[in-house]
Formats: sequence, C-alpha cells, structure tokens
Amino acid sequence: SAAEKGGFDWFMRKEIYEQPRAVADTLLGRYDSDGALTLDEIRISEAELRQIDKIVVIACGTSFYAGLVAKYAIEHWTRIPCEVELASEFRYRDPIVGPTTLVVTISQSGETADTLMAIRHAREQKARVLAICNTNGSTIPRESDAVIYTHAGPEVGVASTKGFLTQLVACYLLGLYLAQVRGTKYGDEIATIMHELEQMPALIQQVLDGIQPVLDLASEFADEPSVLFLGRHVGYPVALEGALKLKELAYIHAEGFAAGELKHGPIALIDHQLPVFVVVPPQGRDMLHDKVISNIQEVRARGAKTVILVEEGDEEVTPYADVLIRLPRVSTLLQPLVATVPLQVFACELATRKGHDVDQPRNLAKSVTVE
Ligand code: G6P
Repeated sequence: SAAEKGGFDWFMRKEIYEQPRAVADTLLGRYDSDGALTLDEIRISEAELRQIDKIVVIACGTSFYAGLVAKYAIEHWTRIPCEVELASEFRYRDPIVGPTTLVVTISQSGETADTLMAIRHAREQKARVLAICNTNGSTIPRESDAVIYTHAGPEVGVASTKGFLTQLVACYLLGLYLAQVRGTKYGDEIATIMHELEQMPALIQQVLDGIQPVLDLASEFADEPSVLFLGRHVGYPVALEGALKLKELAYIHAEGFAAGELKHGPIALIDHQLPVFVVVPPQGRDMLHDKVISNIQEVRARGAKTVILVEEGDEEVTPYADVLIRLPRVSTLLQPLVATVPLQVFACELATRKGHDVDQPRNLAKSVTVE
C-alpha cells in the first residue's frame, strides 16, 4: 500500500531516500570515544586477524560490486592482497584458500544460494568466513565465523539500493578495523576517514535534495536503446552498478566499462548521440582525474552524449559535458557512497516512465535461493 511505501510510488524509491539514515545506522556505535574502532560482531581474534595473508570477497549481483569497491579500500589501507570473486564461479575452480585466508562474503539477504555454497566450500578448506549482511539471523551469517550487520532495515525493492550503500560502509569499516589491528594505519588516519564517513549521511541527503536534474534526464532518455557507463578505480564498480540498475529495472541494454579499457574495444560502440555516463574521480594528486577527462574527450569526439558525474567546483570537464551531475566533494575511496545515488534514481525514474514494475522487475527475485 501507499502507506507502507511511506508516500513513495515504489519501495525502491523509499529505500533510496532512506539511505542517509541507513548509512548512519551502519556507522552507529562502531567507534568509541578513545578513537578506536570496535566491531563487536567480529568473533575472530585480533591474533588470528594478524595472521591473515589473503582476503577473498565473494558475492553476487550488486553485492559483488560492493566487493569490488572493498578491494580498493582494503588493499590500500591494509596491504593485504584482496581478490573479489563472483560466488557462482568461486567453488568450481578449485580456489586457493586456507586457514590464513579471510573470506568476506557480502549478501543483503543472507540467503543467496550461490553465496552460501561458496562459503561452505571455503569453510571446508578451513578459511575463516566473515559475512557482511543486512538480515539478522539469516543463513549466511549463521554459517559464518563472524558477521558485520549493515542495519539498513528491510529492503523490499528487488534492486538493492540502501543494501548496497550500507555494504560499502561495512566494507570500509572492515578495512579500517583490519588496518587498526595490523597497525598499517595510525589512529589519527583512521579518525580522519571515520570523520569523513560520519559526514556521509548529510552528503547523501545533499545529493537527494538536488536530484531534480536526474529525474528530468530520465524522461529525456526514456527511449534510448543503449546506455554506457564509465569509471576508473572505485568509479568502475559504480559504473557497473549504474548499468546493472538500468538492465534490471528499465530493461535497457547497458554496459559498465573501466574507462581505461575504452581504447581496447568499447570505444567501437560509441555512436552518434549514444548516452555515456562517466564518473569523474575527485581532483587530487594522482593522475586519475585527468585520465578520465581525456577518456571523456575521446568519447565526446566520437559523438557520444556525455552525462558527467563530477564533484562541485571541478570545472575542467565542463566543456566536454552535455549534462553535469554535481557530487559533493569527498575523498576518492568514499566517492561511491555519493556517486551511486544519482544512478539509482536515474534507473528508478526511467523504469517508472516506461511503466515498468520497479519493485518487481520481470524474471528477477529479491533473493535467489536456488543455484
Ligand atoms: C538478486 C537480487 C540482486 C542482488 C543479488 C544478491 O539477484 O535481484 O539485487 O544484488 O541477488 O543478493 P544478496 O542478497 O546476496 O546480496
């Protein structure tokens, strides 16, 4: 009913708007007044966590993309090698895991069969398994050694939104916790990142408050047959998620690519007026930002219609943007928390305009309990 949806047309839209609160809830109580992260639900001892020599993240769908973001953060902060693998691929290739491997599994529902089978396989090989999950008492956390609950509240829309953002937060918390335990980051560095995480609910709200241009864009693009999404670094999983949302909800052909791979193939797809969304990394010391600007110039020169997600105050890209979507200024690793939101809204709105059932897309299930 409309009341259940809090006055929104879809659960998905309601859940998109719940994200500031959901992210705040994921962060709640993780950080004590002495400036130490305390993840009580991690029942793996600090001594064991110091022995870990490899992390393997296993998940499906949108949760897999949270895992791709996690790799960048975890490796950067902890220097522990981190692989990310689709759960449905993991156990069929005789993966190398053992007692010093930490398997991190990400599942909103905690019931996805592919993911469950993968962690059973990992535990048979004696790996330690930590679940990032939104559903208390579900099967995956029950069969894991440890759990970080995301506390996003029930997610009803089939396409994950607040589930995804809170998974990202849990991944950042895990990365920082491992860095703290292993001493690869000092307390003040962790405090700086935690402080920025604590600003995120307000910044996500800011994105939602300024969302009207994205809604307008959805009506403008409702008849497009194909849309591309590009990003680099953590912007790459954001691009994949933007494309997945369009496929799931609007039944539009969409692809996400690593912008640096353009020249190795995807650029052949660029055609007159093809919409291309690009996530621009924050202006920083590294070359990432400038490289993405060159990628945008390349697609624009070949006729693409460019929709550019870029932080406030960055004017370098303006000459090459047909549409600008402004993002709050955040650090590179945390940018997915704000950059994903316009793409969720875009897909939700476009599907609405096309008359599709946004909460129950055809052929999809909220949790896939068969392999
Ligand atoms: C289904 C849903 C997706 C979800 C995926 C993984 O395919 O339609 O939205 O991302 O399962 O679900 P999980 O509950 O394991 O995160």
